[in-house]
Amino acid sequence: MAIRKILIEPEPLLRKKSESIEKVDDDLRKLMDDMLETMYQAPGIGLAAIQVGILKRIIVIDVSKDVNKKNPLFLVNPKITFRSVKTSTYEEGCLSLPGQFAEIERPAECSLNYIDYKGKYRELKADGLLATCIQHEVDHLDGILFIDYLSKLKKTMIIKKLTKQKKTLERIVV
Ligand code: NI
Repeated sequence: MAIRKILIEPEPLLRKKSESIEKVDDDLRKLMDDMLETMYQAPGIGLAAIQVGILKRIIVIDVSKDVNKKNPLFLVNPKITFRSVKTSTYEEGCLSLPGQFAEIERPAECSLNYIDYKGKYRELKADGLLATCIQHEVDHLDGILFIDYLSKLKKTMIIKKLTKQKKTLERIVV
């Protein structure tokens, strides 16, 4: 397994639509392992392949609170089939938007189908933090970031801050 570099907004790749997977094979499992390790190390509770620069419809998630009881979820070609009318609000962050958080309202429950780590078709009903996390990650596959739900003013402010941060980081690296 290897840690991959996480793309930071502003980054045009983060705005692209990811492509469906034809087949889950060992190469793809290796990518999923890398994504999981990268997510744990960050640390974060969800990561989409595009965040490590790969335009494929793959997500890794682990919302378990206990670090000793890991419970990873691998979602290939996830498709949300139901969104509840009832909503919930969480303060969301994103590994591609470091240090930025905002309250986002989303459907409180969702159902989806996906292909798992072994290539099996599965269905899942989610609520609470998992439902929010799944919707946030599926958004990534369609080039959507949580800041897109904010007012134009707030969004512009966040992107400005990130642009400044990025320049500073690059200066340190050089
Ligand atoms: Ni994110």
